[in-house]
Amino acid sequence: MSYEAHSNQTPTARPTVSFLGCGYLGATYAICFAEMGYEVIGYDIDQEKIDAFNTGTLPFVEKGLPEMLRRNLESGRLRFTTDIADVADAADVHFICVGTPQRPGEHSADLTYIESAVVSLSQHLKRKCLVVGKSTVPVGTATWVEELIERHTGGEYGIEVGWSPEFLQESNAMHDVMRPNRIVYAARSEWALNLLRAAHQGILELAALEDREVPVVETDFATAELVKVAANAFLSTKISFINAMADLCETAGGDVAGLARAIGYDGRIGNKFLRAGIGFGGGCLPKDLRALTARAEELGVGDSFHFLNEVDTINTRRRTKAVRAISELADRPSGPAGPNLEGLKVAVLGATFKPDTDDVRDSPALAIARKLAAARGEVIVYDPEGLDNARVEAPELSYAKTLSDAVENADVISMLVPWEEFRTLDPESLGAQVGQRRIFDGMNVLEPARWRAAGWTYKGTGR
Ligand code: UGA
Repeated sequence: MSYEAHSNQTPTARPTVSFLGCGYLGATYAICFAEMGYEVIGYDIDQEKIDAFNTGTLPFVEKGLPEMLRRNLESGRLRFTTDIADVADAADVHFICVGTPQRPGEHSADLTYIESAVVSLSQHLKRKCLVVGKSTVPVGTATWVEELIERHTGGEYGIEVGWSPEFLQESNAMHDVMRPNRIVYAARSEWALNLLRAAHQGILELAALEDREVPVVETDFATAELVKVAANAFLSTKISFINAMADLCETAGGDVAGLARAIGYDGRIGNKFLRAGIGFGGGCLPKDLRALTARAEELGVGDSFHFLNEVDTINTRRRTKAVRAISELADRPSGPAGPNLEGLKVAVLGATFKPDTDDVRDSPALAIARKLAAARGEVIVYDPEGLDNARVEAPELSYAKTLSDAVENADVISMLVPWEEFRTLDPESLGAQVGQRRIFDGMNVLEPARWRAAGWTYKGTGR
């Protein structure tokens, strides 16, 4: 649907919007919506976090976002609070952005934070408004949220629910919020749909200014909820598929990077999310994949989703395979008890789940570093941004403050996260610092010929 089609239907008045839960998702949305001219109030129960935002400090790494935060605090359009009554009073549209982590010991999603956000908001609502879910949830959650609101407001004020999944990628978050490749939302009434249109008007206006179109999918609750998990499951499947091909290439003597490039030229396949390597991690793909499988089981269609268990297994197996590859590279082939790296210094370059973030949640790199240490290697981890979080997540590992400290006299370099600082390394100058010129290129970002020419033993993935 084009911007013009929408501008006819959308009220020009901008609703005041709130974002409940100021993690990566809620905070980025709050800041970007203020940038697009909305009056915005961000809410979180964590006072320390709220104080940080209000003083212009972003508690996570996202390029460009701190400047945008400060600019919008100064404009007076953006503020953060822990006072839910204030939020309930101020906003016309409340976006629920709290986390839905994997339940410990289970595959399903934990909806505790959704419940507490919706209940505490409902207890303070005193007028008609729209509550819109953005968190990634199992299908059926929107209807449950309607029931929660009904129960805690006594059905007064006719408060309505909408659902609008988000697709932002960490490290590209501002772009994905303000210039999304699609907008998806669902609501039950024309009143609620109009409010959702008005709440997205800023994105469509920006697109019109830049002569772009943003497709809008208006749909039902179940579809809106499923779109998000379907997208993440599909992306995960692409990655595991190419990683399975990497195994085959390695055995048969092919090159998975060339293979990915060649199949990617087919528009039906596409060239994105086909980078073979150490597998996917982060706070979203792994847990969403599992939550989708668990929900499908609950709804009696689990059979159709068993393949996603395999996608997950292929992915976690990447980590063991990487450790095996590293130990072979160091001339320590695995014995029956697994690899033994005793006496070897292994420099691990990268701790985050991908570059340009400080997020180490379910990070393949950190998991591999732990396995290397468990194999008795003397492991030293370096990461440009993720060291603080890594130290909390894996306190048993040793960390270096600089790349040079990490690689000094190393017997093997494991380059696991393709940060620019690593991609642009010079084989000669790095070679002068290490003990042995051996490098494992976990995400296939180096040019093997160049490294080999400089006397390195190079090992990539599936090549
Ligand atoms: C993912 C989705 O891409 C977003 O669209 C979604 O909104 C978000 O989850 C979410 O659910 O909130 P994100 O977790 O930020 O975004 O990270 P991705 O860029 O998708 O990368 C995920 C993992 O896949 C990383 O570990 C990355 O290294 C790995 N990856 C990615 C590969 O191994 N190969 C590839 O070709 C691409």
